[in-house]
Amino acid sequence: MPRPMDITIRRAQLSDISAMASLGATAHLHSGLTKFLSPYVFTFVGDYLYSCERRIRRRMASARNVTFLAIDSASGNPIGYAQFLRFGCDPAAQELITQQSTWALRVLQPIVTIREFWDSWMFKDRSVDPVAAKEWEKILEEDDYWSEYKRMWYVQSLVVSPGHQKRGVGSRLMRVVLERAEVEGVVVGLEASPEGEALYRRLGFVLLQRFKNKLGDWENEQGGVFLWEPPGYIRDN
Ligand SMILES: CC(C)(COP(=O)(O)OP(=O)(O)OC[C@H]1O[C@@H](n2cnc3c(N)ncnc32)[C@H](O)[C@@H]1OP(=O)(O)O)[C@@H](O)C(=O)NCCC(=O)NCCS
Repeated sequence: MPRPMDITIRRAQLSDISAMASLGATAHLHSGLTKFLSPYVFTFVGDYLYSCERRIRRRMASARNVTFLAIDSASGNPIGYAQFLRFGCDPAAQELITQQSTWALRVLQPIVTIREFWDSWMFKDRSVDPVAAKEWEKILEEDDYWSEYKRMWYVQSLVVSPGHQKRGVGSRLMRVVLERAEVEGVVVGLEASPEGEALYRRLGFVLLQRFKNKLGDWENEQGGVFLWEPPGYIRDN
């Protein structure tokens, strides 16, 4: 059995975005969703990578987002990351927003908005199949799994580099949000890929439902909408 990885976890900086984009792009390269959405990925790797970078940057421009990086203690290299988003207007959510609304974030937000606007006109991700992208967009609009939860942490992304998987890195990253959610008394929700399901179950997540929509053959009987509740959790309504 491989030894658990010796890692440190720290908050990600803007300067980490390109490293995170390559980690994310590599980890998702062979996933069913990538095959469905980005069938031309091997021809247009640069486009695919840039889309990953944009997604990570957009998320980091929100005062409700926290992004953590796992660093291999031996090499000092990033080997995984997680992005979490806090919903709600309860005191803990307000405190997070206040803490994170620094001048740096206020400067960053319009820059990211302008850059996004520019990219939406000038950048076309040629790895993507436009028909699949439309279908996916529609699904995201229709599938609202979380509206009944007034306050929660939502897992936007969990990624570990393929060469460092199955050595506890993903679990360590997830524990950061679970510990925080336990202190705040809120649930944690996510949409699990087939690869992630076993890990989430082991951490105490329960399946709420399999994905409503089936797209081609990229989904199998694994993956779906998962929820974790802190001990003694009482629902808001
Ligand atoms: C899903 C993902 C994040 C898991 O990361 P990971 O670092 O491999 O996670 P862990 O090592 O903590 O746990 C994975 C498995 O390794 C096992 N494991 C942990 N430490 C281990 C060790 N030292 N030796 C052997 N196995 C170990 C765990 O028991 C776990 O097994 P299980 O999946 O059967 O429960 C990673 O596979 C990934 O990035 N996949 C692609 C992107 C993706 O699908 N992300 C999830 C989106 S929801």
